[in-house]
Amino acid sequence: MAATIPWDEAIAREIIDSMRNLEGALLPILHGLQDRFGYVDARAVAIIARTLNLSRAEVFGTLSFYHDFKRQPPQGSTIKFCLAEACQARGAEKLASWLEHKHGVKLDGGASNGLAVETAYCFGNCALGPNALYDGEIFGALDETRLDALCLRATKNAGAQS
Ligand code: FES
Repeated sequence: MAATIPWDEAIAREIIDSMRNLEGALLPILHGLQDRFGYVDARAVAIIARTLNLSRAEVFGTLSFYHDFKRQPPQGSTIKFCLAEACQARGAEKLASWLEHKHGVKLDGGASNGLAVETAYCFGNCALGPNALYDGEIFGALDETRLDALCLRATKNAGAQS
């Protein structure tokens, strides 16, 4: 996955048009927009509604129902941290405590110093857990040292974006 870019209506229309004929196109479109821009801009709602022949309320209802969809531009960097069973068995919860203790970042607690960490459930890399996902890349076999390095990288990227 490429790094996200600022909202651009022409690119948003391309994404929407490229998926408009998919079965149940709304969710793939919302995911496509979020992957590209890091969130789904409110201006996309009317375009999607017109393209899919839905009401704005229907589009907005779906967008707001799923917590995974962001409606504001991301503040800093976000790491997705797996707390599904296999990663838990390999120490993910202990690492989550480390995150809070060492980096002051609480899981799902919003951004702190430009870094947010959100709970996720399985990236399909269970044998190499604990795992995190950042900028489209899976970071496996995490321990405190590797997690520190990942946080440093994400924080630096957040600084570069601002
Ligand atoms: S349980 Fe974490 S990647 Fe599958």
